[in-house]
Amino acid sequence: MGIGQPDFKTPEHIVDAAVASLKNGEHGYTQGKGMLKLREAVAEDIHNRRKVIIDPENIVIVPGGKVTMWHVILMFGGKGKEIIYPNPGFPIYESVINYSGAKPIPIKLDISNNFKINFDQLESSINENTSLIIINFPSNPIGGVISKKDMEILVSILEKYPNIKILSDEIYSRILYDNAEFISLLEYPQLKDRVIILDGWSKTYAMTGWRIGYGVWPKEYAHIAEQLNINSFSCTNTSTQFAAIEALQGPQVSVELMISEFDKRRKIMIKQLNEIKGFECSNSKGAFYLFPSIKKTGLKSNEMENILLNEIGIAAVSGNSFGRFGEGYIRFSYANSEENIRIALQKIKEYSEKIGWYA
Ligand SMILES: Cc1ncc(COP(=O)(O)O)c(C=O)c1O
Repeated sequence: MGIGQPDFKTPEHIVDAAVASLKNGEHGYTQGKGMLKLREAVAEDIHNRRKVIIDPENIVIVPGGKVTMWHVILMFGGKGKEIIYPNPGFPIYESVINYSGAKPIPIKLDISNNFKINFDQLESSINENTSLIIINFPSNPIGGVISKKDMEILVSILEKYPNIKILSDEIYSRILYDNAEFISLLEYPQLKDRVIILDGWSKTYAMTGWRIGYGVWPKEYAHIAEQLNINSFSCTNTSTQFAAIEALQGPQVSVELMISEFDKRRKIMIKQLNEIKGFECSNSKGAFYLFPSIKKTGLKSNEMENILLNEIGIAAVSGNSFGRFGEGYIRFSYANSEENIRIALQKIKEYSEKIGWYA
């Protein structure tokens, strides 16, 4: 229950599209920013799901969602800059911010505030050196989503600082439960000149190893992102691009099935985790992670990770791997079978009762 990748196969029609492109000899270089046909398919998907019309010229295809993150942080980071990012959050943000020479400024997400952004903390973290703010909903490692009301508060704050760029990591945009609504930062025209959207195929279509993602950029920066592509890897793998077109334009039934399967597991896990003394798990409505607090067990996150693995045989990720405010939590991925999940949680419960973790 450690790794963040769907335990499903890439749907067959998507695999077939890649194979067909190879067999048809369509395997040369493409445009640095990706094939026009794929960028058009992405623009159509954005129109359907985010209700916004995007010029395919603003879309840059990259080998995995991570590459958009890399491009954005390198473009707007660097010495003397400060970048605000969620903590606990996807560990690559802090790592690349440090690599760029910028100062990472964490925004603490806390269970006592239901893992929502603390807007006072956000505003007080902004100063004249702030160059970029990173937002991630649905989030990793929490699985949290943002309400329309909170999104509007966030946008009203962002509007006050026109020089700051925003990276909205929306890689889990399709993976939502309990009728949670997906709201994209792309839907706010007042921010359109400085928002970059990160999304892709890895999670939605079980395509983590194919390596493909996209960024939606303001036009002037799309050109620079394309240049970075050309200078480093030329273009994203061509047969993967064909597969990505089929993923967006073909039947979506596999996505729906995967999400309903995740939802079943999510409900089982939340219930069973809350039955383990010392664990406190909130009702996360997105992605495929749960991030229970283990503070009342009296154990540190690393200690819990080690016990789970070495004593009980379960892989999970220590909360502080996602930043220092993740201490006191542990991340479980439910990209695993319902049967394994039930067995794993039963084992943790039995172990905790035997040892008496509860402080
Ligand atoms: C929040 C977040 N953003 C981006 C990514 C990167 O996705 P990809 O595998 O497409 O590079 C991940 C992967 O785990 C993630 O959790």
